[in-house]
Amino acid sequence: MHRLELTKEELGVIRLLVREVASRHASVEAADFLDNARTYAQELPKRLRAFLNTFRLKEPAGVCLITGYPVDDTKIGKTPPHWRKKPQRSPTTEEEIFLNLCGSLLGDSMAWAHQRDGIICQDLVPIEGHENKMLGSGSELELDWHTEDASYSHRGDYIGLMCLRNPDAVPTTYAFIDEVRLDSDHVEVLFEPRFYFRPDPSHPGDREGERASVLFGDPRSPYIRFDPYCMDRPETEEARSAMDSLIRAIDQKLTGVALLSGECLFIDNYKTVHGRSSFKARFDGTDRWLKRINIARDLRKSRAVRAAPASRVVL
Ligand SMILES: [Fe+2]
Repeated sequence: MHRLELTKEELGVIRLLVREVASRHASVEAADFLDNARTYAQELPKRLRAFLNTFRLKEPAGVCLITGYPVDDTKIGKTPPHWRKKPQRSPTTEEEIFLNLCGSLLGDSMAWAHQRDGIICQDLVPIEGHENKMLGSGSELELDWHTEDASYSHRGDYIGLMCLRNPDAVPTTYAFIDEVRLDSDHVEVLFEPRFYFRPDPSHPGDREGERASVLFGDPRSPYIRFDPYCMDRPETEEARSAMDSLIRAIDQKLTGVALLSGECLFIDNYKTVHGRSSFKARFDGTDRWLKRINIARDLRKSRAVRAAPASRVVL
């Protein structure tokens, strides 16, 4: 894993920067914050900027972890019961700013109009009644590994997670495609557009799926787009066998990290599948609580379905 532990000096610089930004912007959802996030991020410590740049450019690992940011467990308050945002200022604005500034060094954060009210920085919390749903808000059902928003060609290049609390050490699972062993016949089939991606259940109302390849890019170090839970069984035996062998190979390489409070994990959504282990939620304000952002390297690719050049919401 690509990993960076922040030093005391670096944390001093970060805390000052985050406070200054928080004094100017009430929320990371505000357009004037999003427009300026990358400019503010130029004031993050150089070692952190270089670390994220290497992760973006050289693809050395499927995930990267930034540790050491202190989260005050009392100040952030209880784990909310739902992802829906409240109108008043969030007690986690500083944490959200830090996650968003780091993310802005990888690309531009984005959201979907038809998912979670178009919120950019989302609360990943267990929701009562969703225990057995295959959703980020589920808990007792393991969240199967997947590419985020695999059904959509405008899906993000990265997912950024920041852990606010994780008292039961629930692992975020992942597998890096460069570590997955596949035979060349299967790779060839997986590079062909023979696979049907159904719309994701976390995108209610959207009914369009897409036919595409599972692997693309360089066959020796491919990119992956894969979510068996949201895909049809392929029509041919050859394609079914290639898909099944990839599922088995990923299962073998699946590993996990139980995030600690203050840790930020960036997942390369082109090189890695990710999921979450099951857990027993208490729904008493002490449950696992992560912040999540989606990041696009090139917003222009989705310009036809966004209202303005700087708009972050894909319609
Ligand atoms: Fe996900």
